[in-house]
Parts: sequence; structure tokens; C-alpha cells
Amino acid sequence: MTDQTKTRITTNLEGQTAIVTGAARGLGRLIAQSLAACGAGVACVDVNAELLEETVGSIKSVGGQARAFTCDVTDSQAVNDTVDQVVKAHDGLQILVNNAGITRDGMLMRMKDDQWDSVLAINLRGTFLFTRAVAKPMIKGRQGRIVNIASISGMIGNPGQANYSASKAGVIGLTRTVAMELASRSITVNAVAPGFIETDMTAKLDPEIIDGIKQRTPLGRLGQPLDVADAVLFLASPAAAFITGQVLVVDGGLIA
Ligand code: NAI
Repeated sequence: MTDQTKTRITTNLEGQTAIVTGAARGLGRLIAQSLAACGAGVACVDVNAELLEETVGSIKSVGGQARAFTCDVTDSQAVNDTVDQVVKAHDGLQILVNNAGITRDGMLMRMKDDQWDSVLAINLRGTFLFTRAVAKPMIKGRQGRIVNIASISGMIGNPGQANYSASKAGVIGLTRTVAMELASRSITVNAVAPGFIETDMTAKLDPEIIDGIKQRTPLGRLGQPLDVADAVLFLASPAAAFITGQVLVVDGGLIA
């Protein structure tokens, strides 16, 4: 185990292989680093090849194992090819984290078709494509952990995010159903639903909105990326073997 990240979870993932989508930056990068710090070999997937190399470099520089896969999560063929390559290289696959996601906010009446389609494609179709692709190798290995990054917007809604909320509600429905379908093969499928986390995605928000969110959050602050990464790591770890079909809300109590 390396000390690359400040992860507060101690678990041994040596010998395991993980795929993390959207690993070029933000939460995905930290999740990839955390899994690698616990000994997993991590296949880092993203469309941003340059930043992806930075993620992989950061893992390798502290002795972790990682490889970059430039892949658009909406491209069915590319997703299947990526999973095939990972499975062949590592003789199996045990962990998938569906983290790639975007926002294209706007009020319903002004929302363009493309805003709807792109968010649904990346957030929901991408999660479906990777989940379908890993099912076979995980079933063969009779072991698997799938962790999908949802959002509290998919649970309570959020004005200006009809597309995003629908995509994340879809991710939650997908999570619960696939959990039932794969449970008999010892594969668990769970979601993490972050509230407002300090990343590039939320840096776009108006400071007044951020202040309002902090005031409404019982724990009085925005979440840190590590709060999400640690929740993912727990669900990906052997300690979560009897947990499936769940949504772990990481929001400082905002929707409690
Ligand atoms: P981010 O924008 O920093 O990172 C998203 C990553 O996904 C980027 O590296 C991007 O290149 C990649 N990506 C975008 N489209 C892709 C595609 N077609 N194929 C492959 N990769 C693609 O976002 P952040 O904040 O790290 O969010 C990560 C996940 O967490 C997303 O699913 C987001 O919806 C979710 N989330 C984030 C919250 C926050 O407050 N930051 C709150 C709730 C959920």
C-alpha cells in the first residue's frame, strides 16, 4: 500500500483489477488513486487523454499500478474493446466505478435537445454500457464490485437540472435492478450519491448559491472529494460484501 492519497480506508485490494471511468480529473482521479493506493491495478478511462496520463503518472510515481484507456463511455464498441483489453491483460476484472459524468444545466423550457441527449448519453448510457461489458468477466470470476456515482439531484431533483436529475435517477434504477440480477454471482452493485462536493463541476456555481448550500447542510460545509472517494472505496472493498442495491448518500446531511 502506498501513501499517495489521504484515504482513511484501509483495505487490501492487491491482485484485484479496477476500471474507473472519468478518471482524468476530479472525483474519478482521486478514486483511481485511492484504489491504487490499496493495491489494485487501475484501468483509468476518460476522453481527455492528456489529463488521463497525469492521473496514471501520479499513480505510477508512488509505485502504484495504472494504465490509461482513452475511451468515450457512450461508444459501445470502444467500451467493449476497453473491457476486453483490461480483462486479457489482467486475467480478470473485479471492480468497476462508473464515475464519468457531465452537467449541461438549464431550465426545462429552454433546454435544448442536445443538452438532454448529451447528459443522458454520458451519465446513464455510459454507465449501462460499462456495466453490461463487465458483467461477463465478473460472472466468470464469481466476484465483482460495481459502484455507480449518482447524485442527490437524482433523488430529490434540482431546478435547472432536469436532464442531470433524470440521468442520475436512471443510474439509481439501473443500480437496484442490476444488483438483483447479479447477486447470485457474488457481484454487488451500489451507488454513491454525493451532495455538493468541491470540484471543478461545482466551481462553476455562483458563490451565493454555495453559501446557501452550506447554510442548508447540517454539517455546515461542502463535501471534499475524499469524502466521496472513501465511500466508493468502502463499497469496493471486501468489507461491503453483504451490501448490494444501496444508495450511499454523501451530502453532509443535506437531504436527511
Ligand atoms: P469532472 O467534470 O471534474 O470530471 C468528470 C470526468 O468525466 C472528466 O475527466 C471528463 O473528461 C470525463 N468524461 C466526460 N465525458 C466523458 C465521456 N464521454 N467518456 C469518458 N469520460 C468522460 O466531474 P466531477 O465533479 O469529478 O464528477 C464526477 C462524477 O461525480 C460525475 O458523475 C458527477 O455527476 C458526480 N457528482 C459530482 C458532484 C460534485 O459536486 N462534484 C455531486 C454529485 C455527483
